[in-house]
Amino acid sequence: MLTLGIETSCDETSAAVVEGERRILSNIVASQFDLHARYGGVVPELACRRHVEVISQTAESVLDEAGVALGDVGLISVVKGPGLIGALLVGVSFGKALARAVDIPIIGVNHVEAHLYSAVMSNEGIGFPAIGLVVSGGHTMLFLMEDFGGYRWLGGTVDDAVGEAGDKVATVLGLPYLGGPLVEKLAAAGNPSAIEFPRAMMRRRSYDFSYAGLKTAVLYHVKGYAGSPRDPSLIDDAERADIAAGYQAAAFEPLVKKTMWAAEEFAAQSAVVCGGVSRNEALRAMFADAATESGVPVFFPARELCTDNAAMVAGLGAWRAARFPEESSTDFDAFPNFGAFDSLDGYRDPRARRGRKK
Ligand code: KG4
Ligand code: ZN
Repeated sequence: MLTLGIETSCDETSAAVVEGERRILSNIVASQFDLHARYGGVVPELACRRHVEVISQTAESVLDEAGVALGDVGLISVVKGPGLIGALLVGVSFGKALARAVDIPIIGVNHVEAHLYSAVMSNEGIGFPAIGLVVSGGHTMLFLMEDFGGYRWLGGTVDDAVGEAGDKVATVLGLPYLGGPLVEKLAAAGNPSAIEFPRAMMRRRSYDFSYAGLKTAVLYHVKGYAGSPRDPSLIDDAERADIAAGYQAAAFEPLVKKTMWAAEEFAAQSAVVCGGVSRNEALRAMFADAATESGVPVFFPARELCTDNAAMVAGLGAWRAARFPEESSTDFDAFPNFGAFDSLDGYRDPRARRGRKK
């Protein structure tokens, strides 16, 4: 069976055709990079308008590229949340309209679960129970997966997501949008131990994360303190590289340590690390070392499936529809917050607990 996936949760309009549960026939990601770059971040209203403009064409092109007709598609899978509500509504409305017009079943899936599924699509032999870490621009979350599809919430960020922190550190370092990958490039020439930035919430067995303090520490390092201000333009290239490398080390160490602590506590057979930040080679190398040391293999999605894409959405939709046929229904709404993912055992959004939920 062929599944048409649709993803519009943030700033990428994406459509994909997947055969079965994992064979990608085509995957188009129409980036809105040009639209948001001048503002230094995603502008929700502009994102929604661009989704409206390009969604039909993107879906048409992806069918062409796969060499299939709409009539060959057996299921539409669309992200229903979490994400920007206006942006989600474009994909959800488009998907439902298409499903009704051509009489194809539709399923609404969770964006974070789709990130976890991207690792399943890319790898054979992920052993369960597994620890799942999602690290992206909007999310930093740790799960125990008894099996794929059954999740227990272990922890998440109490403030910024790690991808978001990297993008803000990039701005402090004078790098353009989209900063995370540029910080990675800069860091490659730096010494990660030259500047010791704080590692947050490292109390053993806490699976929550925090990035606001680290971001502020980098800001003060670059701009100085009230009593001793610095002119950031005088920081030489070698120190900028050390700052980037020191930031990455401090940002990534809690991710690696807590994933491996969880693997030990729950006797996990493997760990999967996914989301935009999982593209980062320094992070992959730290996890590779931890895997060797602990004997717990760590799996990543293929690089093109780390950031937002509809292939993981199509794959997850096919996977869920085969196991939970009652989920193939137009009876779902778009939702902005992760908390609406109610099939998750033990979930409490730490940002909500602290009254800081976004
Ligand atoms: O998964 P994604 O496309 O969107 C969300 O669901 O948020 O992740 C985007 C995030 C951005 O913060 C971006 O800077 C970050 O992933 N990112 C990276 C790298 N590639 C993307 N961060 C660090 N190193 C990278 N190579
Ligand atoms: Zn994402």
